[in-house]
Amino acid sequence: MKFFIETIGCQMNVNDSDDISEYLSSCGYEKTTDYLKADIVVLNTCSVRFSAEHKAYSFLGRLKEYKEQNPNVIIGVVGCMAQYAYKEIKKKCPFVDFVLGAKNIQNFPEIINKFIDSKQTKHKTAKKETFKYITIARGCSNFCTYCIVPFVRGQEVSIDSDKIYSFAKEAVDNGTKEITLLGQNVNSYDFNGTNFTKLIQKISSISGLERLRFMTNHPKDLSDELINEIARNNKVCKHIHLPLQSASDRILKLMNRKYTYEQYKELVFKIKNKIPDINITSDIIVGFPTETDDDFKKTFLAAKELKFGGLFIFKYSPRPKTFALQFNDDVSVEIKQKRLYELLEESNIISKKINSNYINKKVDVLVESFQDNICCGRNSQNLKVFFPAEQNLNGKIVKVNINNALANSLSGNMIV
Ligand code: 5AD
Ligand code: SF4
Repeated sequence: MKFFIETIGCQMNVNDSDDISEYLSSCGYEKTTDYLKADIVVLNTCSVRFSAEHKAYSFLGRLKEYKEQNPNVIIGVVGCMAQYAYKEIKKKCPFVDFVLGAKNIQNFPEIINKFIDSKQTKHKTAKKETFKYITIARGCSNFCTYCIVPFVRGQEVSIDSDKIYSFAKEAVDNGTKEITLLGQNVNSYDFNGTNFTKLIQKISSISGLERLRFMTNHPKDLSDELINEIARNNKVCKHIHLPLQSASDRILKLMNRKYTYEQYKELVFKIKNKIPDINITSDIIVGFPTETDDDFKKTFLAAKELKFGGLFIFKYSPRPKTFALQFNDDVSVEIKQKRLYELLEESNIISKKINSNYINKKVDVLVESFQDNICCGRNSQNLKVFFPAEQNLNGKIVKVNINNALANSLSGNMIV
């Protein structure tokens, strides 16, 4: 018996899908990468932009045909879109057996057990996973006006720090080298007085753990205490993803981001000052309602001024339930596209230039894949590094001398 799982969206979803896979494996199901061979198909959805929903419905279209030919296959839709478009999915896709929203994703075993002979035939096997994602908080209470997350994942709830610790310890004891702590805003983590800095100290004390990463950060909550900890702690990777969204104060206000560009800039300079080898990446939304050429220019100039290591740029997409839905989505698709390309082009030039500083320098790479005699891994700054190798070095940390730099990756030769 086989299962297939398709994941759309962020690392949170990837993490939820991992839990689902683990449960189905413990029930004796084998994972397949071909949905046409699966007895159970799970689609884990995202709702952050319309394009993610479109992707889900087009996959559901293919699943409809598959179900027509194989009526016994069990099809489940889970995740963020399943949370708020529950009725619509049921109506548009009556062939779907169950719909389970992101807020109740932990009930997956209970739901699937209604469809399968649920005896867990295997005990949870201690799998060696070099990289492990751990969710430390669910939901978000920030209510940025464009964002659907607080509505589909609920208000922010921090997970018990002792539970996070035991989970991390177990993973490291089984061979995990790198842990990524996940939350919509890790900086506001607080469990009974354990704040995010304390959590980082606690997790990084686990012996055998080599690297600790985290995301995402909110500029309004990133404390000096945390910046000092990142600077001081050798296990904490030197990468901060710090979404700016826009550099126009007027747009930032309409977005309810609770900082001005000046405050954001000061924060970036403070971080760079205290952690000179830090890589700061960011998210930008172009074409937010009422965004003028002048507003966009501010964002464009900010990218030049702050020199991000990488930018993720999105066209504003109106989302159900959000406050911004009341604003007129008045920036045309063409202008959104034009701004996106313009910024992307500039951002790639900047990133390539920053990355060229690595040329002739040695970086530590934790290897994650090996194909056609090329190993790929990441350095502390989260940049992909490629280098030729004769054997699979997955899970090893090796030194690489960099001889080429692109906008999104580095390459070089391993030092033996
Ligand atoms: N439209 C476009 N981009 C969005 N994001 C969140 N909501 C929207 C939306 N409605 C982007 C933000 C966020 C990233 C994860 O997705 O930039 O940081
Ligand atoms: Fe959405 Fe803002 Fe929360 Fe990020 S901080 S998940 S953008 S509401």
